[in-house]
Amino acid sequence: MRLIICKNYSEVSCWAANYIAARINTFAPCPAKPFVLGLPTGSSPLGIYRELRGLYEKKHISFANVITFNMDEYVGLDAGHPQSYRRFMMENLFDYIDIDKRNIHILNGMAEDLTAECRAYEESIQACGGIELFLGGMGSDGHIAFNEPASSLHSRTRVKTLTRDTKIANARFFGGDPDKVPSTALTVGVGTVMDAREVLIIVSGHGKARALHAVIEEGVNHLWTLSCLQMHQRAIIVCDEDATDELKVGTVRYFKEIENSASERKG
Ligand code: GLP
Repeated sequence: MRLIICKNYSEVSCWAANYIAARINTFAPCPAKPFVLGLPTGSSPLGIYRELRGLYEKKHISFANVITFNMDEYVGLDAGHPQSYRRFMMENLFDYIDIDKRNIHILNGMAEDLTAECRAYEESIQACGGIELFLGGMGSDGHIAFNEPASSLHSRTRVKTLTRDTKIANARFFGGDPDKVPSTALTVGVGTVMDAREVLIIVSGHGKARALHAVIEEGVNHLWTLSCLQMHQRAIIVCDEDATDELKVGTVRYFKEIENSASERKG
């Protein structure tokens, strides 16, 4: 695992957006070989989406041959609902870039048969050749997507019941009332994320520090589902200084030294 420690949220966003752009450009996607990108919602990726829009405007990147799969969606919110993740993605990224709308995949939380919707989602990912790069955030209890504590680390896309903690954390989008946050969501599984050829996680702020400590310095544990990353062959966490507040000084120094010597080698 790589841990990239940036000064603040804006540096985290720039680093991650430039990394995504470089990965897509190096991949050189075309209709026969599209780049398959996994995407999150939440506050954490807002800066990245702003940066990606900027890179697109400057013609440094095109999404014409990019296929996207979002991580999750609330159950019971229609696509036009102000807090639906589909609407979030349209308003923060997709409406501003050259992505073919047919290449956008977001789980339908209004589907009549939610289990069939989840199964079909996994099949679509497979049919596209799997996810090349999965971008994600992390809940303050260390969850990835909506894989709440004690989710199976082999889980696939399914319906999950949200914890009280997650409803409280997301209440800010629902007029501050946790009871207005839907109680269930559709989410890719931990196994679905782990199948991606690369995973890039962004973590910002002191509120995520305890979880970052558990994910990096403690063992693989289903109570902190993002700790699964320890088993991934190509995983990067990009965080800001505030998020490292609970890491050991030695851990921070170790990861900084690795990155410094790698950049010195590159010259
Ligand atoms: C929700 C989302 C996650 C996200 C997490 C943290 O639970 N399902 O994908 O990572 O919130 O959100 P934020 O970035 O707003 O802190």
